[in-house]
Amino acid sequence: MLSSDDLDTACTALKQGEVVGLPTETVYGLGANGLDPQAVGKIFRAKGRPQDNPLILHLGAVDWVDRYCQDIPESARRLMEVFWPGPLTLILQRQPLVPDVVTAGLDTVGVRCPAHPVMLELLRKLDLPIAAPSGNLSGKPSPTTAKSMLEDMDGRIFALIDGGDCQIGVESSILDCRGQPCLLRAGGVSVEALEEVLGQKIALGPDKENPLSEQNAPMAPGMKYPHYAPTAPLTLVIGEGAETGDFIVKHQKRGEGVLCFQEYQELFSENIYKILGKENDFTQQAKELFSALRFFDGTNVTRIWAQCPKEEGLGLAVSNRLKKAAGDSVLSLENQVKT
Ligand code: TXA
Ligand code: MG
Repeated sequence: MLSSDDLDTACTALKQGEVVGLPTETVYGLGANGLDPQAVGKIFRAKGRPQDNPLILHLGAVDWVDRYCQDIPESARRLMEVFWPGPLTLILQRQPLVPDVVTAGLDTVGVRCPAHPVMLELLRKLDLPIAAPSGNLSGKPSPTTAKSMLEDMDGRIFALIDGGDCQIGVESSILDCRGQPCLLRAGGVSVEALEEVLGQKIALGPDKENPLSEQNAPMAPGMKYPHYAPTAPLTLVIGEGAETGDFIVKHQKRGEGVLCFQEYQELFSENIYKILGKENDFTQQAKELFSALRFFDGTNVTRIWAQCPKEEGLGLAVSNRLKKAAGDSVLSLENQVKT
């Protein structure tokens, strides 16, 4: 584990083609020199990630974008100006120098300028883009602390820089704005904020609700793989907090855990539970989500019941990840006849 003062060691390692664990404001990443195909290949091996799933290229400043991308629409420039550095990834036409292994052979590349001060300083020292997926083993919840990244990656990477807990806690939003803007992954910038800057509605990617659906070919290739799953199966309950709380109390069996809103914790005091945040505090929920999912891996619960937040602001990103963690096990109490 390196401290954030030791960026020279990380910089040298990256230049020599090593893989390094890095803090960002969203989640920890597994980084390598994005222009070195062999180094990028090591990321896929460390993570156990399928080769057809492209990586995000992290940039040290807005003006690096023209080095690696071309045909950049005006709308993308506006978004970069407002949201970079920050949790927004834009899908753009790539320049030929971006290696195929980064983009999985696509003619586009996902780029973002991260807001974490340590990551930014490292990028600027290095003066090279860093290719980095989230720092979890494939299929596991993304790490939001150095400790949880080490749990997954100890022995698999050269070093890990401890930059403290991630401020946002869910990954970047991914937007393709080459034509009609289309959201490929809900994340750290809300749809509402993106629409306000663009002055138009954003289409939600076809895989939003059902990433495994055959007829909806996933547009962000990574969305088709199982994701964010804790070890115990998770059942997600959608509806008003008071109703989902009651529903879980009625259906929960002994030995089953609950991921609940703060307001309803007393209902579950006999069981193992973890608080996601207040029902309407989506920022707090985003920050807690992944460490809460990982918390249950350290218990022996046989199932996790979870209350689902409303799909507003960052609530959309939280709900989207809970749905993926739940797979088919999603129950909606909405639109049911109330008695
Ligand atoms: O916040 C984040 O975005 C974090 C931090 C480390 O920056 N990174 C992250 O990377 O979440 P990863 O690899 O776990 O997720 C990237 C997603 C994948 O679903 C991938 O398929 C999609 O971005 N993606 C990457 N390049 C793409 C492209 N050219 N076209 C469409 N989707 C792309
Ligand atoms: Mg990931």
